[in-house]
Amino acid sequence: MSAPLLEVANLSVSYGRVAALRDVTIRVEQGQIVAVLGANGAGKSTLLLTVLGAVKSSGGDIYFAGEPVTQRPMHRRVGGGIVLVPEGRQILISMTIEENLLIGAHLRKDTKVVRREIEAIYDRFPNLANRKDHLASCLSGGEQQMLAVGRAMLARPRLMMMDEPSLGLSPLFISRLFDLIKEFNRDGLTILLIEQNTGKALSVAHHAVVLELGRVVLDGEPAKLAQDPRLQEAYLGGATPEKISG
Ligand SMILES: Nc1ncnc2c1ncn2[C@@H]1O[C@H](COP(=O)(O)OP(=O)(O)OP(=O)(O)O)[C@@H](O)[C@H]1O
Ligand SMILES: [Mg+2]
Repeated sequence: MSAPLLEVANLSVSYGRVAALRDVTIRVEQGQIVAVLGANGAGKSTLLLTVLGAVKSSGGDIYFAGEPVTQRPMHRRVGGGIVLVPEGRQILISMTIEENLLIGAHLRKDTKVVRREIEAIYDRFPNLANRKDHLASCLSGGEQQMLAVGRAMLARPRLMMMDEPSLGLSPLFISRLFDLIKEFNRDGLTILLIEQNTGKALSVAHHAVVLELGRVVLDGEPAKLAQDPRLQEAYLGGATPEKISG
């Protein structure tokens, strides 16, 4: 059996005295979409930032394509194909749309291929193409999310991590976004997806994990998790859910 593309083994992370992740173990097989769910403060963003190398772990290991990367600096992880679409998109609004896209390709030397890929992004998102030389601040939230996804794709991800990509988007953009996630995955991209939109995330994922206060409390098939009352509990921060009468 081949190694999973990403394996997080007994990972712990603290911010000073705040334990953000405790003994977290997650496997992402090549070609899968794995959803990580959980309430605010559960540790979801910390997980992605630690896999990326932007936050230091205090225990445990991270393996990418079978190799330990725990000690590897962030730029080498990105160069190896670990790419993050960050929370809140983090588009540079004082740069043009095209300049934002080029940031995604900054580690690449194959400029002709990059150019072709940028044109392909413009074909897919005419709203970006029409305004490529305008400042990114002119884009709507949904368009900015598409720009963030386009930028991430230009980094040639082998693992694309997305931190709450649907946050603040209109229902129309949310369904476009999830169509895009499914399409990228059908083309072979492995995706680690953080979402508060539990229903949408479980509908596209092959596997799902629920974090609560930095620990994995549920781990399994999306269809089973969707039925599990503990999923609701995790969103209530571990409080005992009220019985719904009727
Ligand atoms: N830079 C930081 N310094 C100190 N504590 C932090 C820092 N970032 C996160 N934390 C704390 O670590 C815990 C996990 O935060 P994290 O942002 O990973 O959660 P999250 O699941 O992504 O939450 P949200 O759904 O609100 O984005 C929280 O208690 C948070 O307050
Ligand atoms: Mg977060």
